[in-house]
Amino acid sequence: MSHRFRPDLGWSDVTPKADFLNRRQFMASAAAGLIASPALAGLNAKPSVYSTMEKPNSRDDITQYNNFYEFGFDKGDPAKNAHLLTTDPWAVKIDGLVDRPGNYDLGDILTGAPLEERIYRLRCVEAWSLVVPWVGFELSHLLNRVGVQPGAKYVAFETLFRPDEMPGQRRRVLDWPYREGLRLDEAMHPLTILANGVYGEDLPNQCGAPLRLVVPWKYGFKSIKSIVRISLTAEQPPATWNMEQSREYGFYANVNPQVDHPRWSQATERRIGGGLFNARQDTLMFNGYADQVADLYAGMDLKKQF
Ligand code: MTE
Repeated sequence: MSHRFRPDLGWSDVTPKADFLNRRQFMASAAAGLIASPALAGLNAKPSVYSTMEKPNSRDDITQYNNFYEFGFDKGDPAKNAHLLTTDPWAVKIDGLVDRPGNYDLGDILTGAPLEERIYRLRCVEAWSLVVPWVGFELSHLLNRVGVQPGAKYVAFETLFRPDEMPGQRRRVLDWPYREGLRLDEAMHPLTILANGVYGEDLPNQCGAPLRLVVPWKYGFKSIKSIVRISLTAEQPPATWNMEQSREYGFYANVNPQVDHPRWSQATERRIGGGLFNARQDTLMFNGYADQVADLYAGMDLKKQF
């Protein structure tokens, strides 16, 4: 069953610490030619128990067909324009209800981060989907490092605002900067990662370099790119598409084939890059991750809180 997790590894198995990948070690091993894992583009990590068994899309599919409105509206615009963005140096401001607020350098954030390869489905609200071999680490790792205070109930994220380098931001097509948010329990869920790589290499800019969120059971717009700020808050934070059109884009944005977008059905999806065999497929509840996340929403009416 293609949409299930790897059957040889139980969900409750914890990836042993020794299997966690230190990016520097990986790059050194890759350079030394020590890695023999062709299926995973050379990444020297055991497949994560959290990975889907579906075949990843090609690197071209993942890097040439993007939504990143800071670089334009067309799917090809980010690949054309994202080279304009400088991602080094990069810092992420972490503030709000945390014990150790600060301006954290990216290097600092990545040092000791338990990097893994996570092959996740990404389901866009526009009814297309991709399978992406991310490299990243659980957001909970970072939140635990900075110390979440008891009053925190949500996590807010912001993308860089730099119209000089992001031509799409010169027009007010969205209320910049792009913002998103999660409830704290969603943010702490082991499926929620911060990705810094794809296909075993640093993220290309159009994919959200140098650090982006990936929340695989939610529509892609929750997976905010090029993050410069993470705030722990007591109140539900504003989220770009939800602010833009709350009837069409709920705060939760869980993938739910039973709740249509007001202007189109969400029952099926088109896998990008499928060529001639590109038949539409049924969209799964929580994008196929129901066993792992349905509990988070026990007692909620997901038709109202979509
Ligand atoms: N993040 C920012 N900052 N700006 C965006 O326009 N688009 C979102 C999300 N993150 C977007 C963003 C949408 S709609 C989707 S579907 C995913 O990024 C697409 O991710 P991908 O291009 O890596 O497939």
